[in-house]
Amino acid sequence: PGQDRLDTLARPLRDLRISVTDRCNFRCSYCMPKEVFDSHHVFLPQSALLSFDEITRLAGLFAQAGVRKLRLTGGEPLLRRNFEHLVEMLAALRTPDGQPLDLTLTTNGSLLARKAAALKAAGLGRVTVSLDAIDDAMFRRMNDVDFSVEDVLEGIATAIAVGFAPVKVNMVVKKGTNDDQIVPLARALQARFGNDVVLRFIEFMDVGSTNGWRLDDVLPSRDVLARLREIGPLTALPASAEGETARRWRFDDTGQEIGLISSVTEAFCGNCNRARLSTDGQLYLCLFGTHGHDLRALLRGGVDDGEIAAAIDHLWAHRDDRYSALRTAATPPHAAEERRVEMHYIGG
Ligand code: GTP
Ligand code: 5AD
Ligand code: SF4
Ligand code: SF4
Repeated sequence: PGQDRLDTLARPLRDLRISVTDRCNFRCSYCMPKEVFDSHHVFLPQSALLSFDEITRLAGLFAQAGVRKLRLTGGEPLLRRNFEHLVEMLAALRTPDGQPLDLTLTTNGSLLARKAAALKAAGLGRVTVSLDAIDDAMFRRMNDVDFSVEDVLEGIATAIAVGFAPVKVNMVVKKGTNDDQIVPLARALQARFGNDVVLRFIEFMDVGSTNGWRLDDVLPSRDVLARLREIGPLTALPASAEGETARRWRFDDTGQEIGLISSVTEAFCGNCNRARLSTDGQLYLCLFGTHGHDLRALLRGGVDDGEIAAAIDHLWAHRDDRYSALRTAATPPHAAEERRVEMHYIGG
């Protein structure tokens, strides 16, 4: 305790991202394309999921190992029954020096208007909402289940109203698909929410093996920035946290903050302090991992906390993952590779 665990590249363990369900009510083409995740797709059975007690026990051990931030993801985390109760349990955890953890949620926003107040009351700290377009027809195409923009905007508004400002909004940019939404989305969010929303643009990534990723579909963040500069001058902001994924910018006139997440053109593996816990309790040390480490087997095998803590220490100490940095340095990995884990199972 007190001592930082560093991996083989001297990176500390700070951020645990927990996928609480592999299900989602959206079918974003870059994540769960409808053709693959159709009515024949088999999701995990309830018994395979980590229980709230199991998640909380592991999160507590990760906090002992240096984790300061918990991000709850999915799938769509708000689909998990009694999710608020899990939030309450995790909000009670403390770091070794007695601090609460930074407890945060990534959601598609579809159930947020209904649940925001309960999440706030349960002790959730922050909310990030995904939104890929402001044009309603385009957004319906992106989520591929005919969900309207307005319902997501209402979720964001409710989150702000109950005290979650600033809310982060993530837009995945696919060149030739929704890149004409960059400026309109930035403008619309500023008009409606002012500086209570921070918009981040994410380069479309080759996560998983079902989303048909091609380098040609990536609009580099520098091009996103160039388009934003056409509507007003921006100034770079300093990083707000160690290991941050986004480069932050601010419009000089309105003060609106923008983030650029450039995992393809400017990999940020160098200070990657993130571990990921899948819905069924596999620990992944990289978003592009091909296999996880079975922490659920330890939990259900009746081993004590000390042994699980030692396993976590051991895995982190041997970690050498830096997929994005290698992908940028060489040609993209080819088809013969092992199957990469899907993002909805491991969490964004
Ligand atoms: P905060 O910045 O703390 O609010 O967290 P956040 O989850 O809102 O943002 P974060 O930067 O953690 O993640 C936003 C998006 O960046 C994710 O949805 C992913 O698309 C991408 N991302 C996050 N972590 C990684 C990572 O470790 N590797 C890669 N390649 N992409 C990541
Ligand atoms: N590339 C980039 N971002 C992605 N996300 C999901 N799949 C991809 C991908 N292929 C993002 C979602 C959401 C978060 C959970 O991850 O838009 O903001
Ligand atoms: Fe669902 Fe999020 Fe994946 Fe879209 S990106 S399919 S909302 S988990
Ligand atoms: Fe971290 Fe892997 Fe993403 Fe690099 S590619 S930032 S190592 S999760």
